[in-house]
Amino acid sequence: MGRALTSLVAVLGATLSLSSLAVAGKGRRADVPIPDPASHVNLFIGTTSSGHAFPGVTLPHGMVKVGMDTDSPDNHAGYDSNPSFSATGFSQLHDDGTGGSVPLSLWKIWPFALCGDDNRFEVCACDINSRKVPRKILADGSPDDAAEPGYFASNLSTNIHVELTATRRAALHRYTFPSSATIPRLVVDITNDGQQSNSLPIVHIEPDTGRVTGGATFAASFGPGVYRAYTCVDFKGDGFDLGKPSEYGTYLGNSPIRGLVDGIQEYTGYRSELGALLGFNQNGNGETKIYVRVGVSFISTAQACSNAEAEIPTFDFDGTRTAARNTWNELLGRMQVETDNVDDDTVELFYSSLYRTHISPADYSGENPLWNSDEPYYDSFYCNWDTFRTLYPLMSLHDPENFARIVRGMINIQQHEGWLPECRGATAQQWIQGGSDGDPILGEFFVKFADEAASLGVSADALYKALLADAEDQPPNWDLQGRQANAWKQYGYIPQDIIEAGGANTKQVSRALEYAFGDFAVSQVAKAMNNSADGEKYAKRAGNFVNVWNPNMTVTGSESIFQGMVQPRFVNGSFGFTDPKHCSPNDNSGENCFLFNTNFDGFYESSPIVYSQFVPQDTAKLIELQGGADKFVSRLDFIFDQNYFDSTDEPSQQIPFMYHYANKPGHSTQRSRQVLAEHFSTATNGLPGNDDSGAMASYVVFFLAGLYPVPATKQYLLSSPFFPQISFFNPAFNSTTTIVARNFAGNPSGGTGGTVFVQNVTIDGHPAKSNCFLDWDVFQRGATVELTLTDDIEVTCGDGADALPPSLSTGGFD
Ligand SMILES: *[C@@H]1O[C@H](CO)[C@@H](O)[C@H](O)[C@H]1NC(C)=O
Ligand SMILES: *[C@@H]1O[C@H](CO)[C@@H](O)[C@H](O)[C@H]1NC(C)=O
Ligand SMILES: *[C@@H]1O[C@H](CO)[C@@H](O)[C@H](O)[C@H]1NC(C)=O
Ligand SMILES: *[C@@H]1O[C@H](CO)[C@@H](O)[C@H](O)[C@H]1NC(C)=O
Ligand SMILES: *[C@@H]1O[C@H](CO)[C@@H](O)[C@H](O)[C@H]1NC(C)=O
Ligand SMILES: *[C@@H]1O[C@H](CO)[C@@H](O)[C@H](O)[C@H]1NC(C)=O
Repeated sequence: MGRALTSLVAVLGATLSLSSLAVAGKGRRADVPIPDPASHVNLFIGTTSSGHAFPGVTLPHGMVKVGMDTDSPDNHAGYDSNPSFSATGFSQLHDDGTGGSVPLSLWKIWPFALCGDDNRFEVCACDINSRKVPRKILADGSPDDAAEPGYFASNLSTNIHVELTATRRAALHRYTFPSSATIPRLVVDITNDGQQSNSLPIVHIEPDTGRVTGGATFAASFGPGVYRAYTCVDFKGDGFDLGKPSEYGTYLGNSPIRGLVDGIQEYTGYRSELGALLGFNQNGNGETKIYVRVGVSFISTAQACSNAEAEIPTFDFDGTRTAARNTWNELLGRMQVETDNVDDDTVELFYSSLYRTHISPADYSGENPLWNSDEPYYDSFYCNWDTFRTLYPLMSLHDPENFARIVRGMINIQQHEGWLPECRGATAQQWIQGGSDGDPILGEFFVKFADEAASLGVSADALYKALLADAEDQPPNWDLQGRQANAWKQYGYIPQDIIEAGGANTKQVSRALEYAFGDFAVSQVAKAMNNSADGEKYAKRAGNFVNVWNPNMTVTGSESIFQGMVQPRFVNGSFGFTDPKHCSPNDNSGENCFLFNTNFDGFYESSPIVYSQFVPQDTAKLIELQGGADKFVSRLDFIFDQNYFDSTDEPSQQIPFMYHYANKPGHSTQRSRQVLAEHFSTATNGLPGNDDSGAMASYVVFFLAGLYPVPATKQYLLSSPFFPQISFFNPAFNSTTTIVARNFAGNPSGGTGGTVFVQNVTIDGHPAKSNCFLDWDVFQRGATVELTLTDDIEVTCGDGADALPPSLSTGGFD
């Protein structure tokens, strides 16, 4: 798929490798930037087999995400690239890579070439199961779909060609009907969201213009809430005067009623589908192209109309498409890679992943139905638990403006609801998976941009107040926001045997670890604000992870490796027991560890073995608790060799890079490359699990860039990039940082061996204090970092006192 794009990639690849011959071995600077990074974006990665990636059209963090819906059980982002699934509609709102129930997928538009045998309006079978049809299938077995930033297209088996593009709050569709479609017809489906959860739907047709307006109430997909949304749909001929609809009417179930302009339904049990059906005149006797402009709003139908009128006033499809692509190119082009000796797939994986880090959260500014504010309003945080680890630290490198707006939106939610958003979706609070993981996101922003915060519109005081509310105040329901703060403050862990009203008394160990990391983020912000008393207070609380460390716990049969592990703990201080392999890929108990499990074991979605590595703020202490560097390394090796690393879930994410802290950065380089080779690719099933709102995508970008973040700190762990050179432009500082890999000799397939290990690092020509991490000031001022690569995996972080990456207990992070 994406064939239209491949020729340009080939041309570009050829150009770069020719020009690089002249300067082979010299580490050519990226003075010839990749002109069109969008041409390297493959939007079909992760669009089948539970990746739930969204291949339709959105602006970076746009609200409208228009795309094809299919009847796949994996249609969380609407689409499935498995051709056995039929198309059911082209809807305006989606998320990227979520789990839970299917979110959004509202306001499906559907084209009919023919209705029944006699093509009568009354026999058009409008409901979703009757109308759906397969896509056309290409010779290679894939569906005839195309996608690129700003554009999506498909050919249906009814010979109708569908094309989509979008602005922030409106979508523009173009349907090309074959000449055999003597009455081109279009459905506006009001009731089918992804869960078929609607209530109180309403639809109205204006016969003179064909405008259709409507609204309905739907269920949130990962929480108890509901939301109401509205649409406004207009039609226009492409190249001819469409005039009024030649026939129109609303339908209930499968019965369109000609001339009926209003549809409304107050349910009494069975929920019939409701919508509008319109037929139009053909354009002469040939193909008929009809634009469908769809405005969306969470406020009113009037606002849905004004959004569409303001953003796509003239139904200019090509202009809208080009503007979207240009916006993406500017954003993606802030990261430039040199491609000499790098295969096209790697370049494609890089830019496709970078693209997917800019789908969520979504900018719903002006669409918040809950309170009035001039501050930005963002939605689709789905969930911070997934994204705090890598998505926001990636944003710090190249997109501080969007990051600042998201942070402002989060603070505004805290000011109105009391706590930071955690897994908000469709304007509703949704389930928390762990701690208050908005804290490390705000921490990440402020630690990196304390000096720029005010000019980026972020109030330091409001940000700090929001953090303190999470850290100190117990919310009415810690399943939806905040933390079980009272117990955390009283005990320094969440005891397994207290039953408190106000949330599920589960996931106590994993929540304690996240609360500790959240407190670390608060301490980092306090320090950046020169509040040293709070800095120390919260740094101390960040050390409370030791309270769930049972030094006597081991893994039977591997006692020589495992000395101590995180475990449930009771009020009286004694420890409970959870099998170390519980919730791991090796757990054959059949229990799951997801949200709706009773989860009395104390852990969420990962094993005690994996959670025993989750202390990014103090890995030095973790090494001490685990019996020293050698045992720590043996434990890391065991996790990979014995299949405890879980590529599908975020708690495992930093484990490949943890060898850095044991002064074995070459082993991190190899593990991270092996993880990429084994679990991620450019295939339609190229994600090991859900994309998780771009969390997995940002993980891949970091691994390919040869970096790994420690959120809410000024450090990035350093490895070797998959490119001879990579650069990051940061608009907050107007600076470009370039990492050059000397001796770059390509990337070994399978991720093992090769000339990829970092032997030596210089920054602007001066020896770096460490080969294992870069400080933020390198990215602020825009430096040239030169790595000398070797094929010896046993490289080190260097000899200096500051060579190991920082940890709290060794005095780090100042
Ligand atoms: C669909 O058909 C049109 C017209 O034949 C063609 O131009 C286009 O490449 C096909 N595929 C897609 C995905 O648009
Ligand atoms: C903290 O103190 C430093 C050094 O005196 C100063 O540069 C910085 O602006 C202060 N930050 C804040 C938020 O007050
Ligand atoms: C660990 O075992 C030692 C020796 O048996 C014992 O003294 C200590 O109390 C145990 N610690 C915990 C936390 O159970
Ligand atoms: C501590 O509490 C747990 C759970 O209530 C109980 O099973 C255990 O016997 C207690 N241990 C001691 C030493 O009192
Ligand atoms: C940003 O840097 C570039 C090149 O270093 C320079 O030409 C430009 O004037 C700078 N822009 C601003 C706003 O400082
Ligand atoms: C690292 O590179 C610098 C600059 O080339 C050089 O001065 C230094 O000796 C090198 N250090 C090592 C350990 O190779």
